[in-house]
Amino acid sequence: MPKRKPAGIGTFDLEPGRVIAGKYRIISKLGSGWESEVFRVAEVRTDIERTAKLFFPERNPGGRTLKRFARKLHKLRHCPIVIQYHTEETFRYRGRQVSFLVSEYVVGETLAEFLKGRPGKRLSPFEAVHLLYSIAKGVEDIHALGEYHGDLHDDNIIVSRFGLEFEVKLIDLFYWDRPKGENRKDDICDLVRLFYESTGGARHYARQPLAVRYICSGLKRSLILKKFPTVSRLCRHLETMEW
Ligand SMILES: Nc1ncnc2c1ncn2[C@@H]1O[C@H](COP(=O)(O)OP(=O)(O)O)[C@@H](O)[C@H]1O
Ligand SMILES: [Mg+2]
Repeated sequence: MPKRKPAGIGTFDLEPGRVIAGKYRIISKLGSGWESEVFRVAEVRTDIERTAKLFFPERNPGGRTLKRFARKLHKLRHCPIVIQYHTEETFRYRGRQVSFLVSEYVVGETLAEFLKGRPGKRLSPFEAVHLLYSIAKGVEDIHALGEYHGDLHDDNIIVSRFGLEFEVKLIDLFYWDRPKGENRKDDICDLVRLFYESTGGARHYARQPLAVRYICSGLKRSLILKKFPTVSRLCRHLETMEW
C-alpha cells in the first residue's frame, strides 16, 4: 500500500496565553491565508508585542517559503513603510515541526477598517491625495531597490496615524517572483485603484473633481501607465498638481 501523505494542519488552534518556542505568548489570531496564519503575540520576557506568521509545514518545504519572505523583508529593512523583520523560530505542533517568522506589530487599523469608520465610508479628495502620496512615497523606496510589493490592497495596508499626514505600513508582500518591471507597473495601477476606492469608487466617480479623475484615468491601465510610467512620476505629479 502506498504510504499516506501526512494530513495538512489546516488551521492552528492556539489558545490565547499559549507560549510557543518558549518565547512568544499568543494574544489572538489576526488572519489566515493559503500558506500561513498570522498571530498577534507578546514576547514572554518583555511583554513587547510582535506579529508571528506561522507557516503550514506542507506549504513551507525545507523552510524555503519562510526564507523567501524573510529575505525580502530584510532587503527592504531601510524602507520605513515596510514592516520590520525580527527573527524566525520553530516549535512543535501536533507532532510537526512548524516554523514562524516574527516581525514588528503595527498598532493601528487596516485601511479597509479605517475607511469603514470615515463619514460615508470614504475620504475627501484632499485626504485621499494625502493617503495616496504617503503610500506612493513608501512604494518609491521599494521600487528604488528594484523590488515591488505585489499585493497592494486595503487589507495589506495598516494606517497607524492620521492627522495632517498619514502614517502607513505595508504588510503581506508577495515574494515568489523575481522582480520584473511588470511587477512595478502592477503596483502603480494598484495604487491608483486604492486611491479610486478611497474616494468612494464608482458611485462617486462622475462627481469627483478633475484632479481626482485625472489620476484615476477611468482605471484604464494603459492610460495610468502613460501618465505615471514610474511611481516616482506619480509622486512628482502629486507634489506639483494644481487643485
Ligand atoms: N505586522 C502587523 N502588525 C499589525 N497587524 C498585522 C501585521 N501583520 C498582519 N496583521 C493583520 O493580520 C491580517 C493578516 O495578515 P497578512 O500578513 O495580510 O496575512 P494574510 O492576508 O495571508 O492572512 C492583516 O490584514 C492585518 O489585519
Ligand atoms: Mg493580507
